[in-house]
Amino acid sequence: KRCTAIVLAAGQGKRMGTKTQKQYLNLCGYPVLWHCLHTFEESAVIDDMILVTGEDQIDYCRTEFVEKYGFRKICKIVAGGAERYHSVLNGLRAMEKNACEDGYVFIHDGARPFVDEPMLERVYADVCKYEACVVGMPVKDTIKIADTDGFIKETPKRSLVWQIQTPQVFSASLICYAYEELGRREKELLDRGIQITDDAMVVEEICGRKVRLTEGSYENMKLTTPEDLEIAETFLRRKNR
Ligand code: CTP
Ligand code: MG
Repeated sequence: KRCTAIVLAAGQGKRMGTKTQKQYLNLCGYPVLWHCLHTFEESAVIDDMILVTGEDQIDYCRTEFVEKYGFRKICKIVAGGAERYHSVLNGLRAMEKNACEDGYVFIHDGARPFVDEPMLERVYADVCKYEACVVGMPVKDTIKIADTDGFIKETPKRSLVWQIQTPQVFSASLICYAYEELGRREKELLDRGIQITDDAMVVEEICGRKVRLTEGSYENMKLTTPEDLEIAETFLRRKNR
């Protein structure tokens, strides 16, 4: 089946706090976003990519990533929205109708440079079996659930707590349905105080579906705050050695 990667690069990068958005910052000679695009371009799993970026960055992305670096699998560049899930919805809507009925969708944060081919093969195997899976890793620290008053409420069993990464991968019909439904029910969910922070949640909340956890890697970090750039550089230097 056709595998489409939706690569998200429409965020503002507020926590990184740099003038240039984090997805375009230099990471060992290439923009942050280049690294995952390169992995998808070379991948035997991925057939095509839809890049979601800011309205005002579409031309820049076309020049930079399609023309300069020659990523041939990028078939569309579309504008994102205010929240991550708006950007995902715009990406899904840009898919060809036939791909939307019968393919798989890999939703990936453009700010995660360390997705690799074995990981793509693991999620592909899992999505074929389970229709919905996300990569992640068991947490290393103990995680506490806080009360609104700043005291600890509970301590979930550490071995059952996972940090979730991307790609998050779904059969296309399932994720397209879930996101369209989210679009319709956005206000209701917001009113109930539900914040949508990842794609698995949409499938869990809207469809009540089980989502499989697939092994990601501890390196598969998201560049969020300034020190993450230094860590990412260290990882890459080791890889390139
Ligand atoms: N993203 C997006 N559209 C949005 C928000 C986020 O495409 N409206 C993308 C980001 O570009 C990033 C990924 O989703 O690749 C993960 O989001 P996050 O790390 O939160 O990035 P930002 O929203 O850019 O950063 P911040 O929350 O610090 O502003
Ligand atoms: Mg954000």
